[in-house]
Amino acid sequence: MNNLPRLCWTVSACLGLAGMVWGMQMAGSEDHSNLAAHAHLNLLGWVSLALYGTYYRLIGLTRSIVASIQVACAIVGSVVMGIGIAIAHQGGTEAFAITGSLLTLVAGVLFVVITFQRPLRINTVN
Ligand code: HEM
Ligand code: HEM
Repeated sequence: MNNLPRLCWTVSACLGLAGMVWGMQMAGSEDHSNLAAHAHLNLLGWVSLALYGTYYRLIGLTRSIVASIQVACAIVGSVVMGIGIAIAHQGGTEAFAITGSLLTLVAGVLFVVITFQRPLRINTVN
């Protein structure tokens, strides 16, 4: 991927919209049992992914193998975790929630590594 900020923001916008529609569905049905799944899809898929993209834009990073893996884990992790929490809350398997959480955690660890390897320098902000 040669434009990581764009990937982050576009996917983040789509997941944010999906999370809002899910919120509307919860509010409309007056069944809030998927609250935790909706919350994590929004906070990981919409907010966290947009923050990752913002950081990559600020440091001018468009292409990097580590960052590509980080973004892939963040995207897949947030979707699998959001759907997985809903499945687990409805009495189904926890496997998807666990897998999504682990991918989300890997994305978090890689992002820490990148912030040390490629710190934000004031003169990279235009
Ligand atoms: C159209 C937009 C949205 C609608 C209609 C909506 C609707 C809802 C509803 C009905 C609940 C359950 C509330 C409860 O039972 O206490 C909820 C919970 C939650 N929503 Fe949304 N939501 C929307 C967007 C968002 C966004 C954009 C975010 C985050 C960026 C978000 C984060 C949360 C969180 C964190 C909770 C859990 C709050 C708690 O722990 O009590 N929501 N939302
Ligand atoms: C690997 C990552 C994460 C795991 C495994 C995790 C796990 C959990 C668990 C088990 C709960 C309690 C849910 C319940 O009582 O049903 C929770 C709640 C919550 N988490 Fe997370 N979380 C993660 C990441 C995050 C992140 C990054 C944010 C914010 C940016 C966040 C925001 C929240 C909020 C607002 C609640 C309360 C709303 C709710 O009940 O769902 N979490 N989380």
